[in-house]
Amino acid sequence: MTGERVHSGRLPSTRLGVIGAGFMGRQHIDFVRAAPGVELVAVADPAALDPAELDCPHFGTTAQLLANGAVDAVIIANPTALHVDTAIECLRAGVAVLLEKPIAGDYASSLRLVDEVERLRGRLLVGHHRRHHPAIARAREALDDGALGRLVAVSGLWSARKEDAYFDDIPWHREAGAGVMLINAVHDLDLLRHLCGEVAEVQAMASTAARGLDVEDTVSLSLRFESGAVGSFLASDAGVSPWGWDQSTEETLSFPYFPDGVAYRVVGTRGALSVPNLAHYGYGPSVSPDWHSPLSRTYLPVAPRGSFQAQLEHFLGVVHGREDPLVSAEDASRTLALVEAAARSAHTGATVDVARFRADAQAQAGR
Ligand SMILES: NC(=O)c1ccc[n+]([C@@H]2O[C@H](COP(=O)([O-])OP(=O)(O)OC[C@H]3O[C@@H](n4cnc5c(N)ncnc54)[C@H](O)[C@@H]3O)[C@@H](O)[C@H]2O)c1
Repeated sequence: MTGERVHSGRLPSTRLGVIGAGFMGRQHIDFVRAAPGVELVAVADPAALDPAELDCPHFGTTAQLLANGAVDAVIIANPTALHVDTAIECLRAGVAVLLEKPIAGDYASSLRLVDEVERLRGRLLVGHHRRHHPAIARAREALDDGALGRLVAVSGLWSARKEDAYFDDIPWHREAGAGVMLINAVHDLDLLRHLCGEVAEVQAMASTAARGLDVEDTVSLSLRFESGAVGSFLASDAGVSPWGWDQSTEETLSFPYFPDGVAYRVVGTRGALSVPNLAHYGYGPSVSPDWHSPLSRTYLPVAPRGSFQAQLEHFLGVVHGREDPLVSAEDASRTLALVEAAARSAHTGATVDVARFRADAQAQAGR
């Protein structure tokens, strides 16, 4: 790692590189350019990039960027199958890492990264950016402070029709691991774990009927949480809908925005909450919480903030040792294990015990 420079006479300016300047990497570049205390100093991507647009040194490989880029930290947004090796290469060079989700293409390889982070005491944050959205922190507070009573159930939906070119033009989008489960539902499953706790069992059905590709386009999941609560989640990249996190927040401007949109409905013994619009339904203190009593709705107040901007600010805290990562490698690997357990269930038709799934995979990996 190289030393810090001073920005505006006060704040340490972080020299940041972006590895993989495709769809997501370019968004990160824009967020970095707009943020204080951080400077884009290098990009690594084997593709030819427009130097005028980039306006910083461009390297063909991660090794060249690490050798010549003088970076303190990197954001890795290359294809998922490269995440683990790229992150390990950067951590071994002493560079802090913000690694795009999913942490790896499969749970077994994510364990290599978890071990390496621990061995090196590496600074690594996984880019499950939605956890940084203010509505998520507020929803967690409501759950933790008992505003809903005991958690009973949760339901969620994410459905948006991707353009055909997404699959036609980018070969890895048609390959195993790039279906709606690992590309999209991984975000929702991560949030459901974050909000509702670990999942004990998962049952899943997957369909390739709408697109006819090898990778699934639509999935339906049933979840049993360790707390005893149950959940259901539907995801599709073939079905048109206004329902889902991306359409219910303003964080990705390329999605149509429905301001009162709902991605998740959380129900407890004393109230209910929809997320991310934070409509809270409940009873007054002296009202019996039963189905015929009047139910009131209030919107929990929260200051607006973009997830990606908040994630970047938090990452700078991780880079400089001021904050522990909100999404560690170990945490993100558990989300990936849940996705894989769901894929196993979809394949076999059997309910999968998630803790046993993780233990078996760890034993196979010799841990
Ligand atoms: N957080 C989110 O909401 C979100 C959204 C989209 C994608 N992603 C994640 O971001 C990652 C990239 O997805 P994308 O849609 O931007 O893909 P993409 O195909 O558009 O971009 C990948 C880029 O990586 C480059 N690349 C390939 N091999 C490389 C290497 N060895 N070193 C450096 N760069 C290399 C490619 O040339 C390309 O420019 C994936 O892991 C994906 O899951 C996250």
